[in-house]
Amino acid sequence: MRDYIVLNINGKTHRIEGDAAFQTLANYLRQDVGATGTKIVCEEGDCGACTVLTRRAADADYRPVNSCILNLAQLDGSSIVTVEGLSETKTVLHPVQEAMVQCHGAQCGYCTPGFVMAMAGMFEVCDRVNEKQIRDGLTGNLCRCTGYEPIIKAALSVDGASAAKMRDRYPELPDAGDSVTVGRFCAPATLDEAISFKRGHPGCTIVQGGTDVGVWVNKRNYAAPAMLSLSKIASLNELREEDGVIVVGANTTLADFETFITGRIPQLAGIMAIFGSPQIKNAGTLVGNIANGSPIGDTLPYLFVAGAMLELNDGARSVPIDRFYLGYRKFDLHPDEIITRVRISIVHDTLKLYKVSRRKDLDISAFTAAIRLAMTGDRIDRAGIAYGGVAPTVIRLPRTEAFLAGKSATLDTFEHAGRIARDEIKPISDVRGSADYRLQLAENIMAKFWYEVFGETTALRLAHA
Ligand SMILES: Cc1cc2nc3c(=O)[nH]c(=O)nc-3n(C[C@H](O)[C@H](O)[C@H](O)COP(=O)(O)OP(=O)(O)OC[C@H]3O[C@@H](n4cnc5c(N)ncnc54)[C@H](O)[C@@H]3O)c2cc1C
Ligand code: FES
Ligand code: FES
Repeated sequence: MRDYIVLNINGKTHRIEGDAAFQTLANYLRQDVGATGTKIVCEEGDCGACTVLTRRAADADYRPVNSCILNLAQLDGSSIVTVEGLSETKTVLHPVQEAMVQCHGAQCGYCTPGFVMAMAGMFEVCDRVNEKQIRDGLTGNLCRCTGYEPIIKAALSVDGASAAKMRDRYPELPDAGDSVTVGRFCAPATLDEAISFKRGHPGCTIVQGGTDVGVWVNKRNYAAPAMLSLSKIASLNELREEDGVIVVGANTTLADFETFITGRIPQLAGIMAIFGSPQIKNAGTLVGNIANGSPIGDTLPYLFVAGAMLELNDGARSVPIDRFYLGYRKFDLHPDEIITRVRISIVHDTLKLYKVSRRKDLDISAFTAAIRLAMTGDRIDRAGIAYGGVAPTVIRLPRTEAFLAGKSATLDTFEHAGRIARDEIKPISDVRGSADYRLQLAENIMAKFWYEVFGETTALRLAHA
């Protein structure tokens, strides 16, 4: 069993042993490698100043990630490109850097390497970008002084074909498919090893994308007695559709999941479009979002109304998602169990998903909802309703669902359903919203749903009557 970590950084191989493997990539780059172009500001994945490109064995391309919340151990076998590795020579800038100079895209410059790396990531998969792609691609990067206009102009002016792609410049990945154990960290190559490591290390924390765990470590001094990464278990890279069910392995990133569901579950793809940032979605996993168990996890309301099934230990046990959460971050998961896959039905019924947050991009939800209706004509046969942000876990609303079943889909029905929904929950006040605000949202969302789904048809019918 290997007892050191191996990474490529700007084409050079680095071998890291012992405690050094537990520092963040950003700190290692700045303090050990001397690659100080990578900046650290928030240390919680919010500002993008620390953006670098990474490629793991399972990835075709280099992708932007936040190096401040990734630790070296979890990156074993990856190849990394920093702003220092972008241009081909010391005298010629990469087209993105050149465009930032020409368009005056930097003032103090502290955020600039992060913007440059996020933009360089966009040109890894295409040669031209439009304004929407730029705005979406830069939701994870904050600039406090230049303003976004010149930065967007810079990205619009880039011809990505004029420079080599990083996958061609740095095609090599370190040879690291074998199991590795460094101190309290283990990244085994097989599921059996992973299960036995978890069984043998009580309190072991699985770290996948680390977009939750990395923030706890940086901001809450979180130190797990042992850490386990599943990233080398190739069978958990699975992402496929089988008879109307999408099977998502534990290693599937949120970004790959978003791409896969875009034509299949457009409503959930709409939520994924405003989930975190590209950097977060390139590292974080769907199963991590489920296992984290936040009552405002954005993927959960859909998974609840779609009846998603969690597969544990390769099918040794399966748990429906709405029975997995036993309380605030308490799970029906035994100490030696790992979520290996999730099976998600593609819902063809009438469906709407909602995320309410203070701003549209890169914000934590105050309230989330999924409303699903099976209909015959105007009549509701069955309703599935899940709310997030109103209880210690995401919840179904059985009384509201039962009220809707068998009713006509009128505004009056949904206003009444909203009042029942309000009565069915007991939200708390926190920094994202007061209990009263959440109660009002819980009620109003039902009428909003009616206007969005039936309002137009009703108005048309009346107009033609
Ligand atoms: C800046 C920022 C923005 C964010 N934006 C959003 C957002 O918009 N919406 C949202 O819902 N979340 C958001 N998050 C939270 C986070 O990105 C997601 O919850 C993500 O899906 C976590 O996945 P991960 O692979 O990084 O999990 P990790 O951090 O690796 O793990 C999270 C938890 O899940 C457990 N776990 C992971 N995999 C397994 C497994 N296979 N079996 C059992 N347990 C497992 C871990 O032990 C840990 O307890 C954001 C986070 C940051 C830092
Ligand atoms: S330092 Fe802000 S995202 Fe990493
Ligand atoms: S140039 Fe100063 S923060 Fe962006």
